[in-house]
Amino acid sequence: MKRFALAVVAMVAVGGLWVGRAAGAEAVISVDGGKAKAISPDLFGIFFEDLNFAADGGLYPEMIANRSFEYSALDRPDWGPLTSWDLVQRGGGKGTVSLDNSEPVHPNNPQCAVLEVLSPGEGVGLMNSGFDGFSVVEGQTYDFSVFVRHLFTGRRWGPKGPGYPVTTGADWLVARIESKEGEVLAEAKLGSAGRAWTKLVAELVPSRTEKDARLVLLMKAEGGVAIDQVSLFPRKTFKNRPNGLRADLAEAIAELKPKFVRFPGGCLVHGHGLPNMYKWKETIGPVEERKGQANLWRYHQSVGLGFFEYFQFCEDIGARPLPVLPAGVCCQNSGFTGGTGQRGVPMEEMGAVVQDVLDLIEYANGPADSTWGKKRAEAGHPEPFGLKYVGVGNEENITPVFEERFKLIADAVRAKHPEIVVVGTAGPAPSGDDWEKGWAFAEQEKVAVVDEHYYMPPQWFLGNLSRYDGYDRSKGKVYLGEYASRGNTLANAVAEAAYMTGLERNGDVVQFASYAPLLCKLGHVQWYPDMIYFTNTEIFRTTNYWVQQMFSLNSGSDYLETKVEGPVAASCVRDAGGDVILKLVNSGSEAVKTSVNIRGVNVGSVGERWSLSGEAGATNPGDPRAKGNVAEQAMEPVKSSFSAGDSFTTEVAPQSVTVLRMKAGK
Ligand code: AHR
Repeated sequence: MKRFALAVVAMVAVGGLWVGRAAGAEAVISVDGGKAKAISPDLFGIFFEDLNFAADGGLYPEMIANRSFEYSALDRPDWGPLTSWDLVQRGGGKGTVSLDNSEPVHPNNPQCAVLEVLSPGEGVGLMNSGFDGFSVVEGQTYDFSVFVRHLFTGRRWGPKGPGYPVTTGADWLVARIESKEGEVLAEAKLGSAGRAWTKLVAELVPSRTEKDARLVLLMKAEGGVAIDQVSLFPRKTFKNRPNGLRADLAEAIAELKPKFVRFPGGCLVHGHGLPNMYKWKETIGPVEERKGQANLWRYHQSVGLGFFEYFQFCEDIGARPLPVLPAGVCCQNSGFTGGTGQRGVPMEEMGAVVQDVLDLIEYANGPADSTWGKKRAEAGHPEPFGLKYVGVGNEENITPVFEERFKLIADAVRAKHPEIVVVGTAGPAPSGDDWEKGWAFAEQEKVAVVDEHYYMPPQWFLGNLSRYDGYDRSKGKVYLGEYASRGNTLANAVAEAAYMTGLERNGDVVQFASYAPLLCKLGHVQWYPDMIYFTNTEIFRTTNYWVQQMFSLNSGSDYLETKVEGPVAASCVRDAGGDVILKLVNSGSEAVKTSVNIRGVNVGSVGERWSLSGEAGATNPGDPRAKGNVAEQAMEPVKSSFSAGDSFTTEVAPQSVTVLRMKAGK
């Protein structure tokens, strides 16, 4: 590294005063296009897990919380079937709400609510407060639906005998969107229903925008009715898919252009005890037939966002699906015992676990007339989803119990589906016992791709830029399935970017990498940091998000040898269209005057530059830890053009990430 003693003095504004600051560091980057190696074209993707209310209350835009009255103390000790629901008695109305499970809409959702109206007044019913209330937009359509059936027992006949009061008439039941104060923003009369469960539907179009709305279902006649599967769903979803995803959040994810999507977790996959393992088969089909369950992250997963929706989303954004299924063991932290809670499904019951994996492959790829392919076709997708990778297990402690079960599954997949690549695991840390045993086991079992997870301080990332340089290329490839540098400040994002140059350099052995976690609803932070924060109406992209996007949108299929002299991290790739893309990361506190020399590949004279910079300790608005502790600064990549060519000089700002994209030259 060369340094000038005060050779360059930049004038910067500090608190309104102009002061001089030394900017004397230099770097030289030499790119040799003649020394290219193929790297994974799928390197940068995303990790999605339903924690921090990422799915229900988040990406899955159902507005009714506890829509099928299945919340229970298993979700959260103080939750039950009527959580999020309140009895409303308007204008002298009197009634009760109770629960019934004698004749469910579907056995997978045994519980329903029973509303008895003794005296209707101006209406008796149920109000749902959604996930922190919900927001509606004037003029947009919200699809309301509810399953109802009249009850004919005891008092529920109503005081005037059978058939009374609600078997006829169009307005005995109304659905309303109201403000918190009770202003009616939209109303629909729901029509009639009989003794059998009937699905009543209506369109609700609010007269004004309201950020904190409620759904009120009001009965205006005496008698009893059973109510289940209450839904209020925005018509506008991502790509207008029915039962689709929240449009703005899905768009923010799509803008990352991830090459793959890992789902549905995380620890959610192996679950909080064996009965809580994720069961993909219970997440497909009509929503009222799906079986929600407790979420290991201490809330409820409705599984309205199920495996069909995950696959559909992957296809919609052009990403490879990378589902992860349980390896027949539950999370080692089950019971929050700190690593001792791993249990294995009894070996004599493992056939079903293995079959679940095989059936998933058929569900995704099988012909439309196969048993599971048919279910995909019935959901509206006769064509296969093109599944190639299946993860088995999530950062397990590598024990004999795990190994025995993993092997059973992996062998069965290989035997029946040699075209599918099984992704194994190397435990929850970047080194240590599980990591060593995980890699040794993977080698023994010839596992083609191994999932590594680590959440470490930024200094660790900066100190380990060459971690993968020495990985043995004859062993399995790496899927860096979860990583983050424990913070959302710019310095965190810069450390991650520097590390990602090492991932690109080693893109021949690192097949996939995904920052984690992806989403977090403000007010429900269960894991920090995250890539995107959101409320019901807003989305906050962190600097970590922008780094992921800068790399993903500027990834390549060849790595060009990049030699670095000086205090920057760098990597250069060539994409399928022949563009040469150089990334420069400065994690220091001085600007670095950087000379770039490119040979062995032609580049044009006009380049596109992306630059992310700011105060090292600052964080973008939305960071839940920012308040009072950390400065907020709105930071995002700034795009400009620059004079490219075989040789040029550029200044790389302190604490910055720069992408230089150069068109292929003639
Ligand atoms: O990403 C959050 C959690 O971190 C994941 O669920 C788990 O796999 C890891 O420990």
